[in-house]
Amino acid sequence: MQSHKNNSYWSKNASEFDKNTNQDIETIVNRIKNDIGHTGRVLDIAAGTGVVSLELAKYVKQVDAIDLESKMISMAQKKADESNITNISFHTKSAYELDYSNHIFDAIVILNSLHVMKTPDLALIEARRVIKSTGFLVAPTYCHAQTKENLKNYQKWSLKSGHKSHHLFTCDSLCELICNCGFEIKKRDVVVIEHEKYSNSMVLGYIVACPVSEVG
Ligand SMILES: C[S@@+](CC[C@H](N)C(=O)[O-])C[C@H]1O[C@@H](n2cnc3c(N)ncnc32)[C@H](O)[C@@H]1O
Repeated sequence: MQSHKNNSYWSKNASEFDKNTNQDIETIVNRIKNDIGHTGRVLDIAAGTGVVSLELAKYVKQVDAIDLESKMISMAQKKADESNITNISFHTKSAYELDYSNHIFDAIVILNSLHVMKTPDLALIEARRVIKSTGFLVAPTYCHAQTKENLKNYQKWSLKSGHKSHHLFTCDSLCELICNCGFEIKKRDVVVIEHEKYSNSMVLGYIVACPVSEVG
């Protein structure tokens, strides 16, 4: 398998990232939960320390949580064990090469991650392959280039945190990427997230999309 491991930032900052959740992110997680509802099998791509997986596990039959960074996944697994949650299977693997059969997931979540992937198209093409034809994708993603002010805020934050996003999306360019990978957009919203710690706000594109039917 080709290696895509380039995420030492997440390995070094796993604990800090885990502590850094806020009310706005909790609202987004709730919204994801409401959009997905009670369903069968859900794939959480780039699951990090499990913020979405742990919540969804209460409502769906099974969650598969994958992330490139073993440290993020082991923190998520630890939290699940401590809460006696047994319907999440955790795996350290790349979103670019999933070893799942075609069309097995009822829903797929990619929260706060497409912009940090070098080649998010590869992750979306894989998501398209493993999602059921009746399934849907929820992909809330930071759109740091939505406005000039957002871009300035992102640059300030990037200098302070040492973190760089690979892609500075607008909501339009994010939707275009998702559509180019075989999905059609069902819902798109621009949501402002306040980051008190960095005294600025950032914009998240909240996208729900369905797979476009395969012809032939
Ligand atoms: C900002 S964190 C978001 C984590 C989680 N979804 C959340 O919202 O709390 C981005 C995550 O993307 C993961 N990641 C980046 N590239 C990846 C890839 N190619 N495959 C799987 N995970 C990846 C990182 O390891 C990191 O955990």
